[in-house]
Amino acid sequence: MDGNGRWAKARGLPRIAGHRAGVEALRQTVRTAGDLGIPWLTVYAFSSENWSRPQSEISDLLGLLKTFIRRDLAELHKAGVRVRMIGAREGLAKDIRLLIEEAESLTADNTSLNLVIAFNYGSRDEIVRATRSIAEAVAAGSIRPEDITQESFATFLDTHFVPDPDLIIRTSGELRLSNFLLWQGAYSELVFLPCYWPDFGKAELLGAIKSFEARERRFGGVTPARDVAL
Ligand code: IPE
Ligand code: MG
Repeated sequence: MDGNGRWAKARGLPRIAGHRAGVEALRQTVRTAGDLGIPWLTVYAFSSENWSRPQSEISDLLGLLKTFIRRDLAELHKAGVRVRMIGAREGLAKDIRLLIEEAESLTADNTSLNLVIAFNYGSRDEIVRATRSIAEAVAAGSIRPEDITQESFATFLDTHFVPDPDLIIRTSGELRLSNFLLWQGAYSELVFLPCYWPDFGKAELLGAIKSFEARERRFGGVTPARDVAL
């Protein structure tokens, strides 16, 4: 979800206005994804590197996340959305941790859209944390080094409960992943859109899905893989 700041700047507005408009685009995207029957949607809300932004912008972003959970949780729950977070929880402010836990426990039994919010998330940090846990388990004797495989490694990642993404969409014209799902996205199809995140709507999502459907996914093999049902 990139381009909130530039969206605001283009209108002569403060960056917070872009972030507010971004939350609206997120609301709409969650609704559309639910309507389309997409089972998993992961959104990159705040990266482990975003802490380097000015303190005032950080508190704006944290404030918006809190408001989003407080205001939208009931509606998400009613719509059958299951909300979960990935990212480092250690060191987060207590009020945010409690809100995250509340959202996860309230929606734990929901079975429509799975909404995964990447918050204080960075792939390298996630991989290092997973590696540390594995090293501790090896040191404690509960895992043997030869038991470490791609599959068992993945169970230590924050995304242990999330299928690898079929499609990763980035808005705002930047052509990079910026530390998002580096392990999980090894075979994801990538779609980069020129529009800023606040301008991302149903038409843009459908366009990205159309582009995804036209791709031939071989996963390193030679024959096209089976179609992935959306
Ligand atoms: C994305 O918009 C929002 C978050 C990182 C939370 P940006 O704030 O990165 O907007 P630009 O890149 O400055 O336009
Ligand atoms: Mg940006």
